[in-house]
Amino acid sequence: MTLSVYRAAILHFLDDPARQLDSSYEYFEDGLLLVADGKIQAVGHASELLPTLPRDTAITHYPQGLLTPGFVDTHIHYPQTEMIAAYGEQLLEWLDTYTFPTEQKFADKDYARGVAERFLDELLRAGTTTALVFGTVHKQSVDAFFEASAERNLRMICGKVMMDRNAPDALTDTPDSAYRDSRELIEKWHNCGRQRYAVTPRFAPTSSPQQLQKAGDLLREFPDVYMHTHLSENANEVVWVSELFPESEHYLDTYDQASLLGKRSVFAHCIHLQDREWQALSDSRSKIAFCPTSNLFLGSGLFNLTRAEAEGIEVGVGTDVGAGTSFSILQTLNEAYKVAQLRGDKLSPFKSFYLATLGGARALDMDDLIGNFTPGKEADFIVLDKACTPLMEFRLQQCRNLFETLFVFTMLGDDRAVQETYAAGQLRHRRDSNAVPQTP
Ligand code: GUN
Ligand code: ZN
Repeated sequence: MTLSVYRAAILHFLDDPARQLDSSYEYFEDGLLLVADGKIQAVGHASELLPTLPRDTAITHYPQGLLTPGFVDTHIHYPQTEMIAAYGEQLLEWLDTYTFPTEQKFADKDYARGVAERFLDELLRAGTTTALVFGTVHKQSVDAFFEASAERNLRMICGKVMMDRNAPDALTDTPDSAYRDSRELIEKWHNCGRQRYAVTPRFAPTSSPQQLQKAGDLLREFPDVYMHTHLSENANEVVWVSELFPESEHYLDTYDQASLLGKRSVFAHCIHLQDREWQALSDSRSKIAFCPTSNLFLGSGLFNLTRAEAEGIEVGVGTDVGAGTSFSILQTLNEAYKVAQLRGDKLSPFKSFYLATLGGARALDMDDLIGNFTPGKEADFIVLDKACTPLMEFRLQQCRNLFETLFVFTMLGDDRAVQETYAAGQLRHRRDSNAVPQTP
């Protein structure tokens, strides 16, 4: 067993700070993180842990560093990496104009692999070590993604899009082929190393009721796989769903009738929900991905995080690239704060860092494995650099406490703030170097 030791300011969460702030986090101003065999061995004050180490132990010291768990992105589309920042449309027109033409390229597995590599590089650059990821309708797009993720030993969830109507022919499957392809991918990839599978109907408008039923069949046969889709993002979308599913009580009901709700079901957006939908999400312990940069970019609306908290629904943050405008979870938290402002709410930086780490892990039902530095968890962590830019350094010097420091990181931080990213104890990104190995 080789022990690796990191010394920096260290922050991690033990619970949601909205419940009980003081006991929700641990902060070690001069801390040590001990890692062995890809797992957390211990975390604590340097003054307490140093005397317990063998005398010649090498220590990696970051005097300007803030060490936190790796960020968790609970909703993102890897095939949309190349179409981030596409001008001018709201959701339904944006899909037709930009998304569907782009996604057709992923029929070519080599092409998909190239984008998957670039996508994972961007995630690691942003400090994201786990994500819940959309592929395209092509099963080879998901093979390409998992192969690239497995090579880096990242904890990732991905799924093949199920889509049998209201999309170009080149992007549609059928209820039966979607079932077969998804099943094959589950058997190949779910729990293969650190990879997990999500049954992924794109959204109700592009799946027939028969196809949604097939998604439900998969969840019954493989009860520990995830379900990942979009819900109530855009006002026109909600009207369209009511026309396509006249028998459904509301948007969520289109999924509920196929038994797609549950603790491993993640619904992106959830902006225009009725009371009954909030209730059903809460009752089923379903999870929500809050995607503020996307929601502002597409003009979709303002997610009500306060309501989700009051309903007891676990929420994670998602970048939703390519409708989202940044891979950076710090930038996503920046916009989350502004969404709260526009609603007359306040998003505290403690809550923000919780959402980005343990909250995201809980939303993905992975908090037994990742999300904080409890001994035994997988050693996915990042080093944020308090001197990453002249402005960051200058501004942080004025901060009087951790609250202010974290808030400034969320407002001014982006990929420049991420000095290093580790996954399962291995260095996977170093900001100032091109020399980080991409394969184990
Ligand atoms: N709804 C259905 N598909 C998509 C997509 O690709 N992106 C977003 N933001 N919403 C969707
Ligand atoms: Zn999305």
